[in-house]
Amino acid sequence: MLTTIQELARRAGDIILRAEHEDLRVKNKSGSADFVTAYDVEVQTFLMGELAARYPAAQFLCEEKENDAMTAAPTFVIDPIDGTTNFIRGLRHSCVSIGYYEGGEVQLGVVYDPYSDEMFYATRGGGAYLTCGGKTRRVQREDKPLAETLVVIGTSPYYKERTGKETVRIFEELLYRTLDIRRSGSAALDLAYVADGRYDLFFEAVLSPWDFGAGRLLVTEAGGVITCPDGSKMPMAPVPILAGAPTAHQEFQQLIGYHG
Ligand code: IPD
Ligand code: CA
Ligand code: CA
Repeated sequence: MLTTIQELARRAGDIILRAEHEDLRVKNKSGSADFVTAYDVEVQTFLMGELAARYPAAQFLCEEKENDAMTAAPTFVIDPIDGTTNFIRGLRHSCVSIGYYEGGEVQLGVVYDPYSDEMFYATRGGGAYLTCGGKTRRVQREDKPLAETLVVIGTSPYYKERTGKETVRIFEELLYRTLDIRRSGSAALDLAYVADGRYDLFFEAVLSPWDFGAGRLLVTEAGGVITCPDGSKMPMAPVPILAGAPTAHQEFQQLIGYHG
């Protein structure tokens, strides 16, 4: 299954690359910065079609469709394009995110960036890896105290009326307690980069299951921690997320917390 999903992620990536300099047919979904393009739908339709043909019993939890609550049944959790605003703006920092769940637990996660041709993947208990330019290496992160972290923070653009003030408070706390802060526009790549030690800590006030569905396994298999900011396990619902080096993750909980 890992090889199949990687191959499909690459083909999905080709669809994303084909979109460059084309008319994206952008639509606003729910208002505030929430966009969908014809390509989000095309990638999702492609992945669902290919996976359903190979795994007919599987269910799907995907961003660009109506979803029922996830069950214990085999389920693919898909964000066809994570980083849609980056995609629309030509920022070349977006990815395909595919998680595979059984018994409600993530078993496999693939995050593919077609622009850098970086394929991050992890299997439960099997470690996290990165393939790029024909080479594969293990993805592992070192532990770090908060003071030595490069932080990446998401702004929950679709929920900012509710979460904006708290996000700004946390941003300010982190600004003075860490090395520096980034905001990338793709939460799935943020989690992959946290797994790989490019960033050390990630916070966002609301992420949906398709945003963290694959990246969560990259983080834990690389030796990081990912939970809600109170330390509890994330349900498959829109929730606040804290991920990173174990010590920094713990210090965030003790010193900063989340009062959403
Ligand atoms: C969004 C991106 C962004 C994060 C948002 C997500 P989308 O996903 O991951 O970085 O801040 O919370 O919804 O809409 O581009 O798939
Ligand atoms: Ca997303
Ligand atoms: Ca998306």
